[in-house]
Amino acid sequence: MLKILVTGGAGFIGSNLLLFLHEKFPYYQFLNIDKLSYASDLSYLDAISDSDRYQFRKIDITDRDKVKESIRDFQPEGVFHLAAESHVDNSIKGPEPFILSNVVGTFNLLEECRQLWQEDEQTWQNRFLHVSTDEVYGTLGDEGYFTEETPYAPNSPYSASKAGSDFIVRSYFHTYGMNVVTTNCSNNFGPHQHDEKLIPTVIRNAVKHNEIPVYGKGENVRDWLYVENHCDALDLVFHEGRSGETYNVGGDNEWQNLELVHLICDLLNEEVGDGPDGDYKNLISFVTDRPGHDYRYAIDASKIKSELGWKQEGSFKEDLRSTVRWYIERYS
Ligand SMILES: NC(=O)c1ccc[n+]([C@@H]2O[C@H](COP(=O)([O-])OP(=O)(O)OC[C@H]3O[C@@H](n4cnc5c(N)ncnc54)[C@H](O)[C@@H]3O)[C@@H](O)[C@H]2O)c1
Repeated sequence: MLKILVTGGAGFIGSNLLLFLHEKFPYYQFLNIDKLSYASDLSYLDAISDSDRYQFRKIDITDRDKVKESIRDFQPEGVFHLAAESHVDNSIKGPEPFILSNVVGTFNLLEECRQLWQEDEQTWQNRFLHVSTDEVYGTLGDEGYFTEETPYAPNSPYSASKAGSDFIVRSYFHTYGMNVVTTNCSNNFGPHQHDEKLIPTVIRNAVKHNEIPVYGKGENVRDWLYVENHCDALDLVFHEGRSGETYNVGGDNEWQNLELVHLICDLLNEEVGDGPDGDYKNLISFVTDRPGHDYRYAIDASKIKSELGWKQEGSFKEDLRSTVRWYIERYS
C-alpha cells in the first residue's frame, strides 16, 4: 500500500487526478490537502469521499505548522503537488497570494518532506512530483516550440511564481539529492474547471445569452490538452520519470483563442441550438487585452513520448464535446 499525498486535490486537475489514481491503483492510499479556495469544489470527489483509501484535510500550504503536522501524521511515500493559485488575471490584480501559495507553499511542502524522508535511507527514495506549467517559458512568436531546454522567461506574476517554485524544486535535487520530478504542461480542458477560465466562461455566457468576452482580437494561441491525458502523464512521470528531470506535456493541438471560441459555439449550436439568430457566435464581444498577454504557447513533448512512452488517447473534438456537455449541465 503506497501512501500518496495530493495537494490541491479539490481543484480542477487535482480532482480529476485523484479520481484517476484512486481507480487505477486500488492498493494506494490517498491524503488530499487543500485550503478549499474559491476555485475548489469537494463535491467533485463524491465518488471516492467514502472510500477507506481516501482522506481529506483542509490545510493551507502556506501554514508551515499544519503542513508539518499533516505530513508527519500521514507519512507520505509520494507526493503529487498541484495546490496553487492558478488564474493569470487574478495574479495581475493581486500577486501576493500567488507568491505565498505557489512559492512559499511549495517550499513548505518540499522542506517538510525532505526533513521527514531524510531520516532514513528507505524513505529518502520517496518521490515528490511538482506539477507546473508551460507559462514559465514566456511567449513564442509564430514559429518554434518550448522544450525542456528553453530558458525560463515568465511574464505574469502567476508564471513567475510557478517559475520560482520550479527552481526551488530543482535546487532540492541538486543540493540535497531529493527525488523530485517536474512537469510543465500546456492548457488543460475538461470537467471541474472553475468558471473563470476560458472554456467555462464561453459556455456559461453562451447558455445564459450574455456576451462572450474575447481578449484583444482573439489571436493568442494555446496548445490544449484533455485533463485525462495530463493525469496519465503525471502518473507516468511519477512512476517512471528520471529523478531531477523535467518533462514537458502538451497536446500538439494549437488553437487561436477565437478559433477555439468558434468551435465551442458550433458545438453549442449542435448540442443546445438556442443561440441568438441561430448561432452563439453572435454573442462574441472583443474586450481590452490582458496586460503582458503571452502571444503563443506550444509544447514540444518529444521527451516524455520517447523516454516514457507517453501518448495522448482520445480525440480532441470528442473530448471537447463531452466537456461542453458537462458545462451545459452545470450552467443550465
Ligand atoms: N489548468 C491548467 O491548464 C494547468 C496547466 C498546467 C499546469 N497547471 C498547474 O496544475 C496545478 C493545478 O491547476 P488547476 O487548474 O487544477 O488549478 P485550480 O485553481 O483549479 O485548483 C487549485 C487548487 O489548489 C488549492 N489551493 C490553492 N492555494 C492553496 C493553498 N495555499 N493551500 C492549499 N490548497 C491551495 C485550491 O483550493 C484549489 O483546489 C497548478 O499548480 C497549476 O499551476 C494547470
